[in-house]
Amino acid sequence: MPATPTTQPRVWFVTGAGRGLGRAFVAAALDRGDRVIGTVRSADALADLQGRHADRLRVLQLDVRGRDAVRRVVDEAAGVFGRLDVVVNNAGYGLVGATEELSEDDARDHVDTNLLGPLWVTQAALPHMRAQGSGELVQISTVGAVGSMPLLGLYNAGKWGLEGFSEALAGEVAAFGVRVTIAQLGGFDTDWGTTSMRFADPQGTYDGLRESLFGTAEVPWPPTAEDPHPLEAPPGRAAAALLEHLDRGDDRPLRLLVGDNAPGHVALALDRRREDYSRDARFSWPADPGSASPGPAG
Ligand SMILES: NC(=O)c1ccc[n+]([C@@H]2O[C@H](COP(=O)([O-])OP(=O)(O)OC[C@H]3O[C@@H](n4cnc5c(N)ncnc54)[C@H](OP(=O)(O)O)[C@@H]3O)[C@@H](O)[C@H]2O)c1
Repeated sequence: MPATPTTQPRVWFVTGAGRGLGRAFVAAALDRGDRVIGTVRSADALADLQGRHADRLRVLQLDVRGRDAVRRVVDEAAGVFGRLDVVVNNAGYGLVGATEELSEDDARDHVDTNLLGPLWVTQAALPHMRAQGSGELVQISTVGAVGSMPLLGLYNAGKWGLEGFSEALAGEVAAFGVRVTIAQLGGFDTDWGTTSMRFADPQGTYDGLRESLFGTAEVPWPPTAEDPHPLEAPPGRAAAALLEHLDRGDDRPLRLLVGDNAPGHVALALDRRREDYSRDARFSWPADPGSASPGPAG
């Protein structure tokens, strides 16, 4: 199957490119000599990079929640440099709230942004990639899409959903030369956990849990004195890991663990799940290779 040649310049499309990880992906691609279409919500969010790379960076405005707008902008982007090699579904935000605390608006906006946004972008990019016979779809997920965590349930659900359709997608589009990467990130020092974080209206019932998990019952979280955050890696490191992954050619996993703390989080989550299944006497690990297929999952 034709994979994108690893040494040739690529054309990228990155959502949520104005800051944080999205901006780091854009900067790393430009440093590599690639061309980029970055989407932002505030027109001047990438003005500095555009000033330095006017010929290789095009900035378009996009709110990923609108399916028609996504289709229009992705089609326009495909015409900018004549192709789309790497599409990074990066735009998204965190949401803290116990299941019982989430309002309908909290839930719908989150799903519209973190799950349906990437779905619309993926659907819009695929005709272009199929026509080219190649393409890379990169879905920015989290280690929280392996195990979930109290008070982050809907955020995790959005990323679980993203991973659910993306794993299926990988099997659907491989025949067209299109590859999918699910990037499971650990903690990176962006606005994700600070000014970007959204919070459901708190109920006192969950204050104790908030306190035990986050060290404070207060929401929004009070600003931390530590900046940059010592436990979180600079976003440029995630960009470097993604570039290295894409340069590996065909020898690549579907899931890319990004960040030093990502493998540990995933191992712990899988361990907990295995332990839970092990309470069913019929369950064995590793799976008995002689056993019959478990059949389709529900
Ligand atoms: N940082 C981490 O530790 C971490 C870990 C795992 C996964 N992630 C994921 O990484 C991705 C990027 O987050 P980040 O850490 O870079 O956070 P960030 O600094 O808050 O950046 C989030 C970006 O998403 C954009 N965005 C949000 N809602 C949007 C919408 N409806 N339409 C278009 N753009 C939208 C924002 O645009 P505006 O600038 O216009 O608001 C911003 O550019 C997210 O999907 C996040 O869940 C982050």
